[in-house]
Amino acid sequence: MQFEVFTLLPEVFPSYLETSIIKRARERGIIHVRVHNIRDYTHDKHHMTDDTPYGGGGGMVMKPDPVFEAIETVLGLNANPPPPEPESNIPIILLTPQGRVFNQRIAQELSQHEHIVLICGRYEGIDERIREHLVTDEISIGDYVLTGGELPALILIDSISRLLPDVLGDPTGAQDDSHAMGLLEYPHYTRPPEFRGWKIPEVLLSGAHAKIDQWRREQALLRTFKKRPDMLEKAELSKDDRKFVESLKSKVE
Ligand code: ADE
Repeated sequence: MQFEVFTLLPEVFPSYLETSIIKRARERGIIHVRVHNIRDYTHDKHHMTDDTPYGGGGGMVMKPDPVFEAIETVLGLNANPPPPEPESNIPIILLTPQGRVFNQRIAQELSQHEHIVLICGRYEGIDERIREHLVTDEISIGDYVLTGGELPALILIDSISRLLPDVLGDPTGAQDDSHAMGLLEYPHYTRPPEFRGWKIPEVLLSGAHAKIDQWRREQALLRTFKKRPDMLEKAELSKDDRKFVESLKSKVE
């Protein structure tokens, strides 16, 4: 999987990309991340990437020309002959608080692509023509406003990469994640079995795998019921799950 990141702050990226699981995924060639400085695609003396808004008002707006040129050059979109079909179907994603709100389902959807472009917005906004004529998708990481799209881009890279085969040490790691099954994940415990008088649940020491699986499923349902009842409405539940949830509801009533 190849990520192409377009930013005015390339220096933000190396420390995270050179750490831990993402570092290993890059070293093993499972993901490739290229960070492109939009400023390298300016041609004026001052390397301007922003300008004042038409119509007045405060703030600066990201200029369209360097962004178009950067992406078209890197993707070879202005090449002659044009790139083959798959290369012209690469998602070109603008990170913006106006986008669709990112979640595990979107991470899974994007993990099916071979090549993804991420544009990090800065300043007060970007020239609308970038949005209309270049970008194919807009993603927000939540209903709050950051100073730019760099952290959101790293969040996408991280959450998509860990879904790719062989990125996580445990091959089933991503399957049990909170959100992956539409439920929050069950609680985890490790040694010691008793800490400051707090014991771990007895069932986890029993060695009875079916019982442990059932306990984990019920804990996942219980957690989701308490913390994120909205998720429970949409989750795929078995007959037993439903019975368990009904019993939780009747306890509350
Ligand atoms: N840029 C600024 N805020 C953002 C957000 N919430 N999501 C994505 N990009 C952003």
